[in-house]
Amino acid sequence: MNGYVTDSTYADTWFRELSPAWLNYVAALNGSRPQPLDGAFRYLELGCGFGTSSVLNAAAFPHGWFDACDFNPAHVQRGVAYAARLGLGNITFHETSFEELLGADLEPYQFIVMHGVHSWVDASTRQVLRRLVDRLLHPGGLLYVSYNALPGWSAELSLRRLLVELAAGEAGTAAQRAGIAVERIASLRRAGLRYCTANPAAASAVDAYARGEAEYLAHEFMNEAWDPSYAIDVADEFGAIGLEFAGSATLTNNHLPLMVDTGTASAIAELPTLRQRQLAADFAINQRFRRDVFVRDAGSSTRPEYFEQTVIGCATDVEDIGATAPVPRGEIRFHDAFVRDVRALFAHRSWPFAQAAAELHAAAVNSGAGRDQDRAAVARNLVFMVASGVLAPFAMVPSADPTRPTRLASTTVERALTADAVRLRRLVPSAVHGNAVAIDEETATALAKWSRGEEVSETFVSRRLPTLARLGIVR
Ligand SMILES: C[S@@+](CC[C@H](N)C(=O)[O-])C[C@H]1O[C@@H](n2cnc3c(N)ncnc32)[C@H](O)[C@@H]1O
Repeated sequence: MNGYVTDSTYADTWFRELSPAWLNYVAALNGSRPQPLDGAFRYLELGCGFGTSSVLNAAAFPHGWFDACDFNPAHVQRGVAYAARLGLGNITFHETSFEELLGADLEPYQFIVMHGVHSWVDASTRQVLRRLVDRLLHPGGLLYVSYNALPGWSAELSLRRLLVELAAGEAGTAAQRAGIAVERIASLRRAGLRYCTANPAAASAVDAYARGEAEYLAHEFMNEAWDPSYAIDVADEFGAIGLEFAGSATLTNNHLPLMVDTGTASAIAELPTLRQRQLAADFAINQRFRRDVFVRDAGSSTRPEYFEQTVIGCATDVEDIGATAPVPRGEIRFHDAFVRDVRALFAHRSWPFAQAAAELHAAAVNSGAGRDQDRAAVARNLVFMVASGVLAPFAMVPSADPTRPTRLASTTVERALTADAVRLRRLVPSAVHGNAVAIDEETATALAKWSRGEEVSETFVSRRLPTLARLGIVR
């Protein structure tokens, strides 16, 4: 199995960035054509782990067809069971290696994603992944690849070498051996390691390992391969099969002003090539993890209208939209009046970007004196609201405004409310959001009660229910 850890299961996780709607947003932001989501489309996840993301995407996109591949039987079994619990008929799990998948008879996909795979497999497996993408990604299709990035992991490259060596020869699972090695590193550090003195980041990493879960460490470090990459090298790798970098699914990374201060931004902007600017930006933020989106055969047909038609919405209660939001540079602050307008606009529905920007611009003009009435500034603030997570990419504008919802939207939603929770959250698919929504226990309980006609709190009715209606979780 090319030295990949299979004796301990990977953490059960869901990643919103893997949604087709999210990937389309990234493509459109940079002028590439998004893939149509209202009809049939095909989506492949390579190295799906427990398949939580693929299952929830399949639930949110009943018109899409989802294939999820992983060679770890325990992972696949859990994914199959989860899909069955939600009653899905549009997802197939392939308990097979990437190498074997090359020989399978599969139609091309509009989306191929691999999260947490690239840095953790060896060069020959990466070549297989590239061949799979080359064979199976539709022209114009989008590829998502996440990986550990350099320079952010520089200090830990050497630590990981030490960890693997100290675990070698020990008995037990990868997680148990990782645990033993971490204890040894921690005691070496207490005795004194100049490496840690010279590299404060390495010292903090040792402390974090000692506090962390051995299972996570096993999957992070104990595979035979662990190769963090520079973004420009990954771009070259997929460039060789005709893919072009379209943008980052870590949305803030698409906007230099949200990442670094103005001095650093202008120093980066002065560099002569895009490649140099991209590399410098990763040095500027000490980039550790990238979620890159590539488009196949983008050609020269990038168009701003793709983005104008892209739908955005609010996935939380609008009252939670605040005037500040955390971004890598620190904090971004929006004007109070703009925040009020955004809350009012997104309270009941999602909007195509251009329409939302026009409405907000009109609101600023109508409110008169003292407001920033520049159309471009309004649009930029709106993009920044999505990038900072205040708003989010959505799959669609709902067809009707459910002002007085009476029931759960579907049996899938009903089943998701009672399916195994991922770490105490209920992950509920939303077709309008084109993503899953993490619902806390209190809301899940109230929602279940409400759907049975039982009494619920006024807060639930006035705050949570409108959000759930806007997301199409109730109707
Ligand atoms: C780090 S996990 C990521 C899981 C999931 N994508 C996530 O992010 O939660 C990588 C996954 O790739 C699978 N994998 C690694 N090498 C593989 C191979 N050659 N063929 C099939 N699956 C592989 C592992 O079993 C594991 O579930």
